[in-house]
Formats: sequence, structure tokens, C-alpha cells
Amino acid sequence: MDVVVFLLQAVLCLLTLPLHLLALFGCWQPLWSKYFPYLMAVLTLKSNQKIAGKKQELFSRIKKLAGASGKVTLLELGCGTGANFEFYPAGCRVTCIDPNPHFKKLLTESMAKNKHLQYEEFLVAPGEDMSQVADGSMDAVVCTLVLCSVQSPKKVLQEVQRVLRPGGIFFFWEHVAEPPGSWALMWQQVAEPTWKHIGDGCYLTRETWKDLERAKFSELQLEWQPPPFKWLPVGPHIMGLAVK
Ligand SMILES: C[S@@+](CC[C@H](N)C(=O)[O-])C[C@H]1O[C@@H](n2cnc3c(N)ncnc32)[C@H](O)[C@@H]1O
Repeated sequence: MDVVVFLLQAVLCLLTLPLHLLALFGCWQPLWSKYFPYLMAVLTLKSNQKIAGKKQELFSRIKKLAGASGKVTLLELGCGTGANFEFYPAGCRVTCIDPNPHFKKLLTESMAKNKHLQYEEFLVAPGEDMSQVADGSMDAVVCTLVLCSVQSPKKVLQEVQRVLRPGGIFFFWEHVAEPPGSWALMWQQVAEPTWKHIGDGCYLTRETWKDLERAKFSELQLEWQPPPFKWLPVGPHIMGLAVK
């Protein structure tokens, strides 16, 4: 199986050689990071239509986190275009963080459309180092389709725990690896070296549920969901929440 995967990976890399050469010489990432937000905006529109009910269900817990002021401090980690804003209850004070500054234009448009929320700031930083966010300052952290792309899920989850207040909740929605030994996993392995460049650093075969289990939250609720797009090599999704 490993040899077959290697050979098919090599064929796909040859077929997409210009992409790999641009990446090798450091030209692809700076260019694609400008256009990737527009691809995400299109995919978000379509995927939100398919999974709106599930997102509503997931984020319905947010309003219970409100303190005496009636407000919820919420950190949108890897915010992208602001795909989740429409699902948050009124009164959330939203801080956004993303290492890609080119999301700002589309993010600002989403903010203008979702006036029921209060926006604090957009921080340009990776989830592995959120030192601009104070310890215990967040009631909720939301992370959707991000842990597939970060350098270190372990460090990001440590940072999430640091910025959450005790009892605060981490909400997640992530795509993960197909089952071991399946054909679907084999195709993910074949596609991964090429997909990584198209998906702006996205890994298809991450077993993110294991990182969540290892992170030792006080409570972890996790549900498996089918992928919203069957034509993409992106695998099953996990949605759920983890309580600090
Ligand atoms: C597939 S997009 C998802 C965006 C948005 N959360 C959504 O659900 O549409 C992945 C996002 O993760 C961000 N990202 C990549 N590496 C990251 C890191 N190390 N820390 C935080 N965010 C990261 C990307 O810039 C991008 O906005």
C-alpha cells in the first residue's frame, strides 16, 4: 500500500509540477494567500447552506456563557472570512485572530452584515502564539476548519486553554482523516502533498480527535458528521465542544 501511495503521489506531483516548483521556490504561498480568502468565501457560502442546522445546534450553548453583563467574550480562531458570525447570539464581543492578513477585506464585509455582534479587533497572529490575548479572558473560543492547517495542533490547544476562563468552552468543527485501511484514506494520502498547497497548508489526514482527547479538557463532546462536499478529498468532520 505504501509503495502504491508513493507512486500515485509522484504521478500527481508530476501532473501538477508547476505548482510544486512555485512552492519549492517560495513563490506559491505569498501569491495564493491573497486569493485563498476568495475561494473560502465561495465554499463558506455553500457549506453554511448545508450545515446551518448543525452549526446552530453547536453554537446554541454560547448564550449560556454570558456573565452578569449579558455579554459573551468570544475568540474566533483562524477566523477566515467570518463564516460563523451569523450563528452567534446577539451580544457576543468577538475578537478575531488569523495569520493571513488578506482575510481582512472579506472579514470586514461579514462584520458589516452581522450587526448583532460587537467586534473588538482583528489580530494577525497564529494560534500557536496568541500572546496578544490575555489569560482567562475568553468565555468561548471557536475554531472551524483550522486545526487541519496549523503547524502544531498541540500548541494551539494549549493556547486555547490559556485564554479560556475556567468553565469557558472551546467549540470546534474540523475535517479529519478517513478510517484506517480504507480506500478513501489512501486517496487522501495520495492527494495530500498537492492539496497542501491548494488548501493553504491544509493536511487531509490529521487525526484531530486524538489531539482533542490528549488536551485534557474537563469535558469533551464530539460528534462525527459526513463531509458537506463529496467531490473534495476532505474527509469526515468532527464537531463538538470541550470545556476548560
Ligand atoms: C479553511 S480556512 C477556515 C476559515 C474559517 N474558520 C471557516 O470556517 O471558514 C483555514 C483558516 O485557518 C487559518 N490558519 C492557518 N494557519 C493557522 C494558524 N497557525 N493559526 C490560526 N489560524 C490559522 C487560515 O488563515 C484560514 O483562515
